[in-house]
Amino acid sequence: MSVLSMHGVTKRFGDITAVDALDMHVEPGEIFGFLGGNGAGKTTSLRMILDIIRPTEGRIEVLGAAPGQERADRIGFLPEERGLYPNMKAIETIVYFGELKGMSPKAARTEGMALLERFDLADRAASPISDMSKGMAQKVQLATALVNSPELLILDEPFSGLDPVNQQLLEGEIQRAAQRGAAVVFSTHIMQHAERLCDRLLILRKGVKKFEGDLAAAQGLVPPTVRLTTSADLSAHAGIAALRRQDSDGDWTHYEIDLADGLEPAMLLEQFTRDGVPLRRFEARHAALHDIFVHLVGSAPDALPQGEAQ
Ligand SMILES: Nc1ncnc2c1ncn2[C@@H]1O[C@H](COP(=O)(O)OP(=O)(O)OP(=O)(O)O)[C@@H](O)[C@H]1O
Ligand SMILES: [Mg+2]
Repeated sequence: MSVLSMHGVTKRFGDITAVDALDMHVEPGEIFGFLGGNGAGKTTSLRMILDIIRPTEGRIEVLGAAPGQERADRIGFLPEERGLYPNMKAIETIVYFGELKGMSPKAARTEGMALLERFDLADRAASPISDMSKGMAQKVQLATALVNSPELLILDEPFSGLDPVNQQLLEGEIQRAAQRGAAVVFSTHIMQHAERLCDRLLILRKGVKKFEGDLAAAQGLVPPTVRLTTSADLSAHAGIAALRRQDSDGDWTHYEIDLADGLEPAMLLEQFTRDGVPLRRFEARHAALHDIFVHLVGSAPDALPQGEAQ
């Protein structure tokens, strides 16, 4: 049974349809990416899942119940608006959240210290949140979402504000949660994280789902390109839709090629071999998630100004 599913979920704020008839599902142990530009409806969707706001239409099921009816101790959440009690110490903050989720103080402290250890913050366990850097406080907040080993972990833009080392640490933590069977749903507009992490992903544009599936299926939406080096003139070759000349090295020229419709890189290579085209390099390149996103959404994930009607 799905850990989470949305059925025809719409959320309107006045004239704005933030989420439009959205269907999706997340399975146990799955890492699921919620992708979309600014204002696409990611946070609105996650807030509905957590019963912070209610859908205008449609139905959501979380751990077999309606949002808010499931046991909160089975869920972990990192909200988009970060915020902890500034005067509370890091470890006390985590213990406090652990107890809210039904843990004993002892178990919460043990798990909290283990998390701070993994997050390279053990030496700051007794620091008040107000004395911490933004990224450190964010790691503490992440620990509050993880302390109860939730079955469903929902992270809204968890990578934002973290340096590259801590981004990697967070990727590891997400994988760790999935390995113990948790479903992890995270929103991002940084495609590289999604590309590395997601078992499945969903791409939203103006509240409308443009894609849901795994990376291989997403890659199938955009034809692969080929990079090759040859001494032949390829301009009249039938299998090529677009030929971009990169640079030359004596008689040899580097090209990037878009394939003609329906042609696979292996088929092009076969043609070249048959026609005796001299090749020094032939490399098929699948579309990066960034390119797929641009293809589906029409603009780069991080290029949409805040609040722009997309
Ligand atoms: N409480 C609200 N009242 C009115 N409009 C809202 C409210 N919350 C969200 N919206 C609108 O809903 C749309 C989707 O917003 P949402 O916060 O879900 O986007 P997002 O995908 O999380 O974007 P970002 O990447 O910028 O966080 C936007 O047009 C936004 O202005
Ligand atoms: Mg958001």
